Amino acid sequence: MSGHNVWTHKGTFLLAAVGSAVGLGNLWRFPYLTGENGGGAFILIYALTIFAVGIPILIAETMLGRTSRQSPIMGMRHLTKTHKTSRAWESIGWLGAASAFLILSFYSVIAGWALHYTWLMLTGSLVGADAATISAGFDALLASPGLMTLYHTLFIAFSALIVGMGIHKGIESGLRIMMPALFVILIVVLIYGVINGDVRAAASFLFTFNIADLSLEGWLQAMGQSFFTLSLGMGAIMAYGAYISSEASLTRTAIAVAFVDTAVAMVAGLAIFSLVFGAGLETGQGPGLMFVTLPLAFADMPFGALVGGVFFILVLGAAISSSISLIEPVAAFLVERFDMTRPQAVTIMVVAAWAMGLLTVVSFNIWAEGTLFHALFGRSAFEFIELLTNIFMPLGGLMIALFAGWALTQNEVMKELGTNITWFKTWRFLVRFVGPAAVSFVFLRTIPQVEGYVVPTLGALLIVGVFALSQRLRKSA
Ligand code: TRP
Repeated sequence: MSGHNVWTHKGTFLLAAVGSAVGLGNLWRFPYLTGENGGGAFILIYALTIFAVGIPILIAETMLGRTSRQSPIMGMRHLTKTHKTSRAWESIGWLGAASAFLILSFYSVIAGWALHYTWLMLTGSLVGADAATISAGFDALLASPGLMTLYHTLFIAFSALIVGMGIHKGIESGLRIMMPALFVILIVVLIYGVINGDVRAAASFLFTFNIADLSLEGWLQAMGQSFFTLSLGMGAIMAYGAYISSEASLTRTAIAVAFVDTAVAMVAGLAIFSLVFGAGLETGQGPGLMFVTLPLAFADMPFGALVGGVFFILVLGAAISSSISLIEPVAAFLVERFDMTRPQAVTIMVVAAWAMGLLTVVSFNIWAEGTLFHALFGRSAFEFIELLTNIFMPLGGLMIALFAGWALTQNEVMKELGTNITWFKTWRFLVRFVGPAAVSFVFLRTIPQVEGYVVPTLGALLIVGVFALSQRLRKSA
């Protein structure tokens, strides 16, 4: 589309995609999943999936954005017309919008916890505190809907402000200040961890592995995490891809995004586990690793309050640079489709996600049990929302891979990739077969009843089905 926005610089997409990718997934989820799943073996599968599945789908998603030059919903609508495929593929856009909305709703609440801890650290409230005090403090935060709502509101309002100012003045400028600062802080925290913690124990925990340690569940979690961490399958990358300049190399950019994102997760893991081991604490604490174990490690270390505060500022910044990419695809759609102004569009998206976020807030206290959600789905509203996104994201990724792999023509893709035929063939094989197969496995994990051998069997069936479907997609193209 002529007149569509384009990033100011060739490299801005890289900055924006890294901003989206690096978030709570790297700093909070990755370390605790690694801790729960026994370290190195988990990381091996995670890294393999990033490179064999993540990068090809990242390229596919950016490609769909750049060829259509519109928001995900309108872009897919356009592509289904120009490629004479079923209108049903437009659901990539709708599914993405639904995921963005759902993820933003709980992402903002959890990022709000980081706001609380930034405050606690910088005011020195946790200096010298013992394990019981710190874990009681976390419980008290979770027990307070008012406090959580306050932080949730502050966080989402700030993110909205940035997106509301537009892709140049808001998103680009914001990222250009935030991202370099985040990398500096990450390095400072790593150095602090090396000096005050046990980096040797951390490194051996992260980088030595015995593949037998990894359960099937761990495998699937590693694959799911590699999707989540790259922000794949829900249109955020597609929306940013719509603004990428025609000259930028998709392949090189995607590799760079995946590389930086992985490096950040590793460095964060190294820093966090150095501190955890140094303080003689447990690695397998689950989601509380960052909010209970880590503050405890900081509590007894020199300058712990200051460095801990700076660390939580890092978490906040990373979360903001991700949450703006959750707002953008939906806001861009509302602007394109209904001719709204950007502030109007952002307000609508964010107020709706904010209200939805209240469900997550109360899931930790007044609605922690005995609600309609528990009766119907056996879980809290927050857990149900998370489950939905865990289904929508892989499903979106699957459809993106299939559409890019089967509906786009060789000429188009060659032009987009701008590389030689060998890489084209490799890429196409990966998005046609390897990606869909891997995603099917991840996807089936989210269905709790499917266990053991049933997973591979159903996975294989799904792949065959997908293949048949793709053949039809091809014919009508
Ligand atoms: N990648 C983000 C993280 O690691 C989480 C995420 C998943 C996300 N999907 C997204 C962020 C889409 C922005 C947009 O924290």
